[in-house]
Amino acid sequence: QFAQKDGFRFFMEKEIYEQSDVVSDCMIGRLKDKEINFDEIDSSILEGIKEIKICACGTSFHAAITSSYLFERLSKIKCNVEVASEFRYKDPLLTKDTLFVVISQSGETADTLEALKMAKKAGLKSLVICNVNNSSMTRLADYTILTRAGIEKGVASTKAFSTQTVVLWMLSLYFAKIKGSIDEQTLQKELKALREVPKTLIVESKLHEKCRRLSKRYLHGHGFFFIGRDVFYPLALEGALKLKEISYLHAEGYPAGEMKHGPIALADPELFTIALMPENMLYDKIKSNVEELSARDSTICTISPLDFELSDDFIKTQKLEHYMLEFFEMLVVLQLLSMEISIRLGNDVDMPRNLAKSVTVE
Ligand code: G6P
Repeated sequence: QFAQKDGFRFFMEKEIYEQSDVVSDCMIGRLKDKEINFDEIDSSILEGIKEIKICACGTSFHAAITSSYLFERLSKIKCNVEVASEFRYKDPLLTKDTLFVVISQSGETADTLEALKMAKKAGLKSLVICNVNNSSMTRLADYTILTRAGIEKGVASTKAFSTQTVVLWMLSLYFAKIKGSIDEQTLQKELKALREVPKTLIVESKLHEKCRRLSKRYLHGHGFFFIGRDVFYPLALEGALKLKEISYLHAEGYPAGEMKHGPIALADPELFTIALMPENMLYDKIKSNVEELSARDSTICTISPLDFELSDDFIKTQKLEHYMLEFFEMLVVLQLLSMEISIRLGNDVDMPRNLAKSVTVE
């Protein structure tokens, strides 16, 4: 019940290191030999359903955006995502062919809870992806899938996000199977990659040391752009959020292809770009986006398994077979980098100023 730091400097650090284990727990009984299974739900969940709508806040919102790529790509179900505080007051059009999904670590966030109440009132089927059993949201939703991350103490969410993303990836495959929208070979390839996630999340000491060393230089940034494409776009949002939350440095996450429509005007050597360059997702596209930033003298730190001659700093990740595995490895890098910058700045990593672990009032 009472979480201890177990020799780590901060709960956040401990929770980053725990990700490999909690993600394994989160797969038990769900990731089977040849298929995905959730005891909490069955195929009737998709009866009469034509689309998925997801509402969440903060880091959980980033897991939601990530999953929207997977629900469309793998399950072939239309999916849209909204920040819960926006959803509440827009007079949303809710139709019963929509599966309403909320994602929340605590299950208590006021805006997300209210969104769920609205969906229930409109008669929609609802599902919550949550880390806390018997929370307000799990009591209200028709279906609950628990993320099994264990208690998360750090205000900056880490293992809650990785377990949410794994649950959502598994769920997109479960839906794909029900809908018959995935061929057996692709399904098996996805399952094989899923099995590799815990290994990918093990923190290599070399990688941690590299982030620690780079933090010295990067704490002087005046502004940061985290850029990525596809699921690496919500990952970029998450990287920027982590840095903002605990380092109080100005950071924005951006879809790499959108930089040319405005933000590139800010490029100069004081602007630090953290570029997520996975080998298995749109590598050439992001490469040319980064080249444009480099040509405008932005300072570039690339996170990639492939050498990139234009980068000022380079965090080399492993060669992995699936883009989602690269996603998880890069997630760890982003978490470590923001934590090390925050430590170097002398901030309280676990209790950042102005923030609360769970926002239960509007
Ligand atoms: C707060 C926390 C964030 C969290 C967000 C949503 O702002 O500081 O870390 O992502 O709430 O919380 P939830 O419990 O709904 O996932």
